[in-house]
Amino acid sequence: VHSHLEESIRPFIDLIDTLRSVGIQKDMALPTIAVIGDQSSGKSSVLEALSGVALPRGSGIVTRCPLELRLKKVTAGVKWKAVLSYRIKIIEFVDSAFVAGPIKPSKLANGKVADPTYDVKRFEFGDPSLVEEHVTAAQNELAGRGVGICDELITLEVMSPDVCDLTLIDLPGIARVPVKGQPQDIGNQIKNLIMKFIEKQETINLVVVPCNLDIATTEALKMAQEVDPDGRRTVAILTKPDLIDKGTEKNILAIVHNKVIPLRKGYTMVKCRGQQQIDENIPLEEATQIERDFFQNHDHFRDLLNEDKATIKCLAVKLTQNLVDHIKKSLPQLNQQIKKKLWDVKNELKEYETGPPKDLKGAKQFLIETLKRFNDQINSLSSGEQMSEENL
Ligand code: GDP
Ligand code: NA
Ligand code: MG
Repeated sequence: VHSHLEESIRPFIDLIDTLRSVGIQKDMALPTIAVIGDQSSGKSSVLEALSGVALPRGSGIVTRCPLELRLKKVTAGVKWKAVLSYRIKIIEFVDSAFVAGPIKPSKLANGKVADPTYDVKRFEFGDPSLVEEHVTAAQNELAGRGVGICDELITLEVMSPDVCDLTLIDLPGIARVPVKGQPQDIGNQIKNLIMKFIEKQETINLVVVPCNLDIATTEALKMAQEVDPDGRRTVAILTKPDLIDKGTEKNILAIVHNKVIPLRKGYTMVKCRGQQQIDENIPLEEATQIERDFFQNHDHFRDLLNEDKATIKCLAVKLTQNLVDHIKKSLPQLNQQIKKKLWDVKNELKEYETGPPKDLKGAKQFLIETLKRFNDQINSLSSGEQMSEENL
């Protein structure tokens, strides 16, 4: 059943990744999954468990640029490989009409301002333990070495037999109080950045909420509900079930069973590695087994396994299916958008007259005809001939 699922989803995910790789997201929003939540709610831990990729993690603001994690399952036996890329703005405005000529800040002939010019950085590597280093270096280059944030996207493509086909975007966590070195409005800066991703109709919003916090006061869930009141593209994850206060299990079960803040797509509970397990270097595969044992042995949460409401593995299957449904639904709309773009470009092309032919004879003929047409117009104007507006 599992491999059948993978067979049937792969083409859709490939299509979207192909569209993305040709830069189509500049013109239209593509379906994707964005991870949002408070700082230290467990976003990176969830991403890490889903991807098998060790991302920069820790207390405080660690994720300072949006990070797009593209996971691609490759055939068994193929080695783990990653490509990290991001772009650095090198020139603000360049007149693309003068690509071969001198670079000068200016507007295009049609009055629009040209796109800025970027230098693309790209690193390919085969050692999973280098991810953290590369992502951190990219963040430092884009957002500075301090505690600032940046809107530029860092893309990490991971090819491995051990991942599921998902594209996820990790975003900086919501912080309420600025720390030393952060601007006073850092909270709003982060919310604005998150908003840019989650407001898109094509984005599935993955809201990460720790079990040991009051879900009703979770800012990320509020933001997701604001942009998606019907909950059609909001998926909630409850983390840290091992850290709850004894006696609160029933309240938490009520949340998972959609009785407190009902979400159309519901909740999934996961248990990731705690700080101690990370410090002890417990491998992810072992963590998966520990997670299973945790639920199987839990007096209150055991049934969640049969209800398909617990574990990272269950979450991965749900997310993949959600993404595929979303892509299927978005395809007619994408098709419309592409047709409209094509129509606009064709119309724009019509505005430019055909230039002279390349060969000398043809060029001479073209010049003679152009002069003749011009001469005829001058003649008809000076002879006082009445011209309709159309002829003008
Ligand atoms: P982020 O800031 O939202 O990305 O949060 P992190 O993933 O960095 O997690 C913050 C801390 O919570 C880390 O020390 C994690 O080890 C810990 N953590 C995450 N998930 C769990 C969990 O399910 N159980 C426990 N005990 N700790 C967790
Ligand atoms: Na953190
Ligand atoms: Mg993080």
